[in-house]
Amino acid sequence: MAETGGDLRCTRESHEEERLQEDCLPTETSMEQKKVESSVGAIFTAIKRSHGAFQLVLERELHAHYLRKGLQHLSDSYECLDASRPWLCYWIVHSLMLLDEPVPESVASSVCQFLGQCQGPNGGFGGGPSQQPHLAPTYAAVNALCTIGTEEAYNVINREKLLEFLWSLKQPDGSFNMHVGGEVDVRSAYCAASVASLTNIMTPRLFDGTAEWIARCQFWEGGIGGVPGMEAHGGYTFCGLAALVIMKRVQLLDLKSLLRWVAFRQMRFEGGFQGRCNKLVDGCYSFWQAGLMPLLHRTLHAEGESTLSYASWMFDQKALQEYILLCCQCPSGGLLDKPGKSRDFYHTCYCLSGLSIAQHFGSGEMLRETVVGSPENLLKPTHPVYNIGPDKVAQAIMHFMQKEIPDLNSKNNDI
Ligand code: FPP
Ligand code: ZN
Repeated sequence: MAETGGDLRCTRESHEEERLQEDCLPTETSMEQKKVESSVGAIFTAIKRSHGAFQLVLERELHAHYLRKGLQHLSDSYECLDASRPWLCYWIVHSLMLLDEPVPESVASSVCQFLGQCQGPNGGFGGGPSQQPHLAPTYAAVNALCTIGTEEAYNVINREKLLEFLWSLKQPDGSFNMHVGGEVDVRSAYCAASVASLTNIMTPRLFDGTAEWIARCQFWEGGIGGVPGMEAHGGYTFCGLAALVIMKRVQLLDLKSLLRWVAFRQMRFEGGFQGRCNKLVDGCYSFWQAGLMPLLHRTLHAEGESTLSYASWMFDQKALQEYILLCCQCPSGGLLDKPGKSRDFYHTCYCLSGLSIAQHFGSGEMLRETVVGSPENLLKPTHPVYNIGPDKVAQAIMHFMQKEIPDLNSKNNDI
């Protein structure tokens, strides 16, 4: 039976006490926070007043319709994402996978052909055809192709050129540029590690010094910043931790302070996550922040940590699901940051990815009990390192394992 309003955490009387307790000095930050709590609180109150008549439902059909339409045609408002077209492919195909909605073969094939046009002659993918290759769209393109997971999709990736592209971005201190002559931050290390590990082009020296460089980005708060000395942020923290998991070097971090930092990023009243201290809740952090938890859980478990919870991912999984289902669903399909914001494919992807993480702990009865609302809300699982289906990760690794790691020895003595 579907869970009703009366069972929800956000409808409990005590929940009101979780609102921001302002001291005597209102600031711009505290006023913004109060505004968000007021809009989120109005939704929670409406549910409470329905006395259990309201069912928490993930509007699968509406979201799938919005996503399928996006694969065929984008409105003018997407012009600003003209340099992020592989991202749009990834956000949409991954979201459809989470909803267990197949992508028709012909559409999948068109996506493969389009991504092929985004691939540069010297390796890597740009934000659109003939655009300069960049690590962010390269990550998105490889994830989209592995999600499609056909021979045609795998064959799009020129692995030898991709490895050359990664080498062209490598810096002497272990970090990577995002593109030739571009900025350096933790995103690039993760994008490089993600695509290299999925496509079996990781050479022993490609990531020399990278793990140590990422560890230098752990800020005193516990989370990871974009570069050494920068404020901790959920996006960068995810990239840093996931990259270190791939490199099997997580022990370089202070994991307890990282866990403490991320646990405190879940908002007491809203139930969703903020990206950094004193900022507002946003649906996309449902993945960037909550996605850290399975990674930390796995690592701490492997270390034999005795205080680890075996009943949850160490955050309030139900509160996060309530936030996403009640505050982030657009009535006409698609998901969004917070009430009052517009839907978009980025937030649709990361709200659904975070919802999947929050739903999937354990299996059988434990899994059933963790899902908030209708049992039909249950999404497919996602791999917390790559954020594509765990089966898609396994299939890609198996496929590329049969191929040799490209030998660039003749061209690059560093390998
Ligand atoms: C701050 O935005 C956002 C950042 C500083 C970077 C976010 C990084 C990611 C989301 C990770 C990207 C991952 C890959 C794989 C490329 P803001 O100041 O608008 O938001 P805030 O107020 O919530 O901090
Ligand atoms: Zn967001």
